[in-house]
Amino acid sequence: MAILEIARMGAPTLREPAEPVADPTAPEIRALVADMLETMTEAGGVGLAAPQVRVPLRVVIFQLPRARVEEGVAEDAEDTEDTEEDPGELPLHVFINPVIEPLDDEQALGWEGCLSLPGMRGLVPRHTRIRYRAFDLDGTLIEGEATGFHARVIQHECDHLDGFVYPMRMTDLSLLGYDSEWTRAMLEGAEAAE
Ligand code: NI
Repeated sequence: MAILEIARMGAPTLREPAEPVADPTAPEIRALVADMLETMTEAGGVGLAAPQVRVPLRVVIFQLPRARVEEGVAEDAEDTEDTEEDPGELPLHVFINPVIEPLDDEQALGWEGCLSLPGMRGLVPRHTRIRYRAFDLDGTLIEGEATGFHARVIQHECDHLDGFVYPMRMTDLSLLGYDSEWTRAMLEGAEAAE
């Protein structure tokens, strides 16, 4: 296994559609996923797409912090730093050649971050309910429905396979900013309220 370099917004693989994986069971795909997991864990992310490690293939991985899923609302799609859980204990989801579709028109705003835009955060509209189909590493078709934070993570990661980063999904770019500024504004707001 190896920790891979994470591409930042502007890298060619983050701007172009990725290629379908011909054989999800191929040893090189298993090796790629192992490297992606190590890279994501080291970076403290919730999800990672192959184009983020400069591999233009339709592969995404994610781990869902239980607390976030139970909240039903999304806070940072790629950031586990304020959870108590050991990421190594969470189930790893591997989606190869995923296809997603919204179940209805309902959307919700939620904060997202991305390992390819380090230090930034934005408020992004996403579908609240989706259906997904993908292959796993054994070549088995996995199908299901996802809501809330789970649905947000899947949409964020699958967007990387089509050349989208989350600011491209935002409807109000005044809500894109640096983490440090959001934190400062939040603390000042808390002080003012005292
Ligand atoms: Ni991302």
